[in-house]
Amino acid sequence: MSKDDRADYNAVFPTELGPAMPHPITLIPGDGIGPEVTDAVLFVLSQTTVQIEWHRQNAGVKVFEQEGTPLPDTVLDSVRQNGVALKGPIGTPIGTGFRSVNVEIRRALDLYANLRPVLSLPGLKNRFGDVDLIVIRENTEDLYSGLEHEVVPGVVESLKVITKTASERIARFAFEYARREKRNSITAVHKANILKLGDGLFLESVRAVAQQFKEEIRYNEKIVDAASMHLVLNPSQFDILLLPNLYGDIVSDLCAGLVGGLGLVPSANIGKDFAVFEAVHGTAPDIAGQQLANPTALLLSSVLMLRHLNENAEADRIVAALHKVLTAGQVLTPDLGGTATTMKFAEAIANELNRNQVSNQ
Ligand code: NAI
Repeated sequence: MSKDDRADYNAVFPTELGPAMPHPITLIPGDGIGPEVTDAVLFVLSQTTVQIEWHRQNAGVKVFEQEGTPLPDTVLDSVRQNGVALKGPIGTPIGTGFRSVNVEIRRALDLYANLRPVLSLPGLKNRFGDVDLIVIRENTEDLYSGLEHEVVPGVVESLKVITKTASERIARFAFEYARREKRNSITAVHKANILKLGDGLFLESVRAVAQQFKEEIRYNEKIVDAASMHLVLNPSQFDILLLPNLYGDIVSDLCAGLVGGLGLVPSANIGKDFAVFEAVHGTAPDIAGQQLANPTALLLSSVLMLRHLNENAEADRIVAALHKVLTAGQVLTPDLGGTATTMKFAEAIANELNRNQVSNQ
């Protein structure tokens, strides 16, 4: 049954009339803290009414040791078949022929838009109580094109590639997202004062799209260094940030810091045909295997995934349960000042979900 058929089936036979068809979703637990946070998220999702048929696929360091490649074809084939994946962080061992497995997944599936909502969460102390930012990062080109070479010993060139096509495509994604989500303004972030051609082309392309939305969405521009300073001083002056790949990578970690850290911020890699949901953080080798990781970032990524699958009611219930646990402040992972393990934190959220289920009956 195709994705469209399944959506039709679920519309015609909603859960009140019988079980909905399960969503087939590729699951890539990944490396480092990936398996721990993935287990925690699977546990929470198992306490919802959403029917999911998980297709588990391994990629990363362990797979490389076993199969000689960190990204077997079966992983991408599975995402192509299911259309949707939930993914943990992946490290890229040196000598695999891959610069980054993550970049390769995004390239192979043409996941051109990276969406990172950065929201203050209740109950958590941070300097800014009201952060509500969307970071939209171009995901396919820029310095991630992988074009690097040594010209002569001691001289290396790394090529930054910017195209009109990719810049217009990400700009259109951002403006359509802003329109759909009723956001007010988009700020393009750049360094066109120095990279006059490359970032100049990015800006020129974004401006052309902005012009088509000028009645609905305010548009402005900021140089990346000044934007970083303004973000740290007063993030609420921004609404949606639109950035080429490298600045997007850096600025989204900065934004994660504004709301309490990398353990809290989700992301979605979206293309025309496929979507891969993952946390912003990496494999966190310093805390891996110790049940110290915060699963919130991957859990909120799964919430974005549920919304993508039109499972909005259960997505809302997960967010409400998470907020209850954070606000109570009794069961928190160490990055939030608590002592709970990754799984204990997930169990607290699951308990809230079940309590909410009982009180609704
Ligand atoms: P990182 O994001 O793994 O860790 C940075 C810091 O944040 C560490 O102190 C870590 O303990 C903390 N942290 C991260 N996630 C956390 C969580 N859920 N709960 C609590 N604390 C958390 O960044 P790093 O160390 O630069 O990268 C490690 C590896 O991850 C590298 O090999 C990198 O290539 C890979 N990576 C993979 C990504 C992906 O799969 N999309 C994204 C970023 C990095």
